Amino acid sequence: MAGKLKVGIVGVGGIAGTHLPGWAASDDAELVAGSDVNENVLQSWGESNGISMLVADPAELFSNQDIDIIDICTPNMYHAPLAIAALAAGKHVICEKPLAPTPGAIRDMIAARDASGKTLMTAQHFRFEGSSQALKREIDAGALGDVYHARGWMLRRAAAPTTPGFVLKEHSGGGPCIDIGVHILDLTLWMMGNPKPVAVSGVARNTLARKDGAFSVWGGAIPKEMDVAEMAAGFIRFDNGATLVLEVSWLLHHDTQGEDMQMWLYGTDGGSHWPTCEILKTNYETKQHYNTLLKVTGNQLEPHAQECVEFARAIAAGAPSPVPAEQSLQVLTILDGIYRSQEEGREVTL
Ligand SMILES: NC(=O)c1ccc[n+]([C@@H]2O[C@H](COP(=O)([O-])OP(=O)(O)OC[C@H]3O[C@@H](n4cnc5c(N)ncnc54)[C@H](O)[C@@H]3O)[C@@H](O)[C@H]2O)c1
Repeated sequence: MAGKLKVGIVGVGGIAGTHLPGWAASDDAELVAGSDVNENVLQSWGESNGISMLVADPAELFSNQDIDIIDICTPNMYHAPLAIAALAAGKHVICEKPLAPTPGAIRDMIAARDASGKTLMTAQHFRFEGSSQALKREIDAGALGDVYHARGWMLRRAAAPTTPGFVLKEHSGGGPCIDIGVHILDLTLWMMGNPKPVAVSGVARNTLARKDGAFSVWGGAIPKEMDVAEMAAGFIRFDNGATLVLEVSWLLHHDTQGEDMQMWLYGTDGGSHWPTCEILKTNYETKQHYNTLLKVTGNQLEPHAQECVEFARAIAAGAPSPVPAEQSLQVLTILDGIYRSQEEGREVTL
């Protein structure tokens, strides 16, 4: 390949900062441009990071023949329109999670990807942690047999984002279901081998956010205008007979310092826990249980950075997207099913 792929970030706020070490470390790509609707944020980001190609309108990046990759880090509701425009202009796209807040928007992104022949990847950084990679390798090697049940949760105690980009549906598309549910659900489905979901029974509710004095430990009050659910739970059935219990919340009377994110997988030959990477087995002849801990070797880079390196490497090698949009469609189909089940008060088919 002649020279490195040139990257432009759209939305240079909080999470974009975690991608910068990845673009800096990549052998295949380099960051050259940024775009943001907030002119002050954009200028100061450009100065801090030595980036001089700064444009308020992302369309200028899309029409720039020197840019190869668009890295989308805006609030959720802008992911699909930006990605579709970038793909249509012939750019590869890495997009923050959720790929989009609805299954319909993801289908449109997949259609745009297929029409362009470019690569589209969801930035599901938890897949790039050493613990996730080690457990996935072990499961793919058959350590658990067939996984027939799983539990995944991502629970916080009074740790909600309070900015409009997260708490107003017009920007976020949903609450923790959409915000952090995508993390644990994507990881769990990936470990399960991405079986096809067929039905979900779920709840999505807003209770503690409505209390007088409701606050976030990250600072500030929970805005009165918050119109997304603060917690969600679901029971999901798959076409191979497997089942999954999912729980997510920003606000819950749950005993956790910061965030409690865990996954249990139960298979015909063993069980496992993440992130400890403990494998649980039984010897039925001796009737003994035995547990082992997987050896975890971390990536040199933090996972948000590693995902950028992997994305550029895949493009350079002509390899498939490290996180295919079809798997994100599966994730959002389930989360959308939880919201639909809440509305209808019953299990819904997917
Ligand atoms: N993977 C993770 O761990 C993780 C963590 C936090 C946020 N995120 C995701 O990253 C995205 C952004 O979250 P954040 O915390 O960085 O938000 P943020 O508010 O800090 O930054 C978003 C930036 O996008 C800009 N913006 C808004 N609309 C835009 C548009 N149409 N075009 C260009 N710029 C626009 C804003 O001005 C802001 O600077 C969200 O999708 C969120 O879900 C991922």
